[in-house]
Amino acid sequence: MAALKITIYCFFFLQVLLCLLSSCALTNAQGLKVGFYNKACPKAELVVKKSIFDMVKKDPSLGPPLLRLFFHDCFVRGCEGSVLLELKNKKAEKNAPPNLSLEGFDFIDNIKAALEKECPGIVSCSDVLALVARDVVVALNGPSWEVETGRRDGRVTNINEATSNMPSPFSNITTLITQFQSKGLNKKDLVVLSGAHTVGDAHCPIVRNRLYNFTGKGDSDPSLDKEYAARLRRKCKPTDTTTDLEMDPGSFTTFDKSYFKLVSKQRGLFQSDAALLNNQETKSYVLMQTKRYGSTFFKDFGVSMVKLGRIGVLTGRVGEVRKNCRMVNKY
Ligand code: HEM
Repeated sequence: MAALKITIYCFFFLQVLLCLLSSCALTNAQGLKVGFYNKACPKAELVVKKSIFDMVKKDPSLGPPLLRLFFHDCFVRGCEGSVLLELKNKKAEKNAPPNLSLEGFDFIDNIKAALEKECPGIVSCSDVLALVARDVVVALNGPSWEVETGRRDGRVTNINEATSNMPSPFSNITTLITQFQSKGLNKKDLVVLSGAHTVGDAHCPIVRNRLYNFTGKGDSDPSLDKEYAARLRRKCKPTDTTTDLEMDPGSFTTFDKSYFKLVSKQRGLFQSDAALLNNQETKSYVLMQTKRYGSTFFKDFGVSMVKLGRIGVLTGRVGEVRKNCRMVNKY
């Protein structure tokens, strides 16, 4: 009799264990999960997707800045929407030098307003950024991936943290690798995510030193293709601060793998793009993507974006769901 009881207990214990394990498969360790809003706001992902597709149809150049916002959010305090916050004293992340060229905040406000109308107080600003990043890539003909959601928004933003955490376009490969590693991202993630520079544009000051004064002797960067440098010099005069430069000339509104071709030909725009050729692993990834067949970039990009989206997230009861992405809730 006792043996039968033990067998029954064991059976139930196993059932509970299996049940727990299967639900864990859907929810990752940090409490994010694909389809987090399925019950509480079933149309959430649809609202975001429609807004992005409508916007990109009207003007595709509005998409890339929104993809960039997600990266800048996640690298400072984690993916918790702090890049969107404003402070009266102008000492928020968005006031830091690496963030002064960020754009698209109004668009995030519009999506958030549409979501608040659909289901008030449910969808966090940090999840809006994660969904927007994916939908922008898809709308620009790039790959799709399943976005984990369930992030909550932080209540802190600090200008100095953005300055010290954001990778610089002037960085060498060692610094870039270290900075990505400090966020739990490896060399492969670094080279894969840099592929986001297949879309969007930059401004002349970022490349000025590469064109006019690389070592302080009026020279140009030897790691920049000479013909390409001459073309860039025609566009960017030494004092130009406003001209836009397409990062992937000719297809800067199409998410494709041509970034890697550019980098392999020493036509990456920033020193940080060119630096990818200075490490064995990142270099061989770049070269592999330039082959006619066998490019893994599209699949890899989704995988690395999911990893990016897990950095320092707030879930469960930590943080809040902001009503207005620009300010913390008042209690
Ligand atoms: C590896 C380190 C990175 C550095 C140093 C870097 C730096 C920069 C800089 C300096 C700009 C141009 C700013 C301007 O002059 O307007 C830029 C643009 C951009 N970055 Fe990065 N970035 C990096 C990684 C990433 C990642 C991981 C993503 C996304 C996953 C990303 C997405 C973008 C996009 C889409 C643009 C174009 C934005 C626009 O059109 O306004 N970047 N990046």
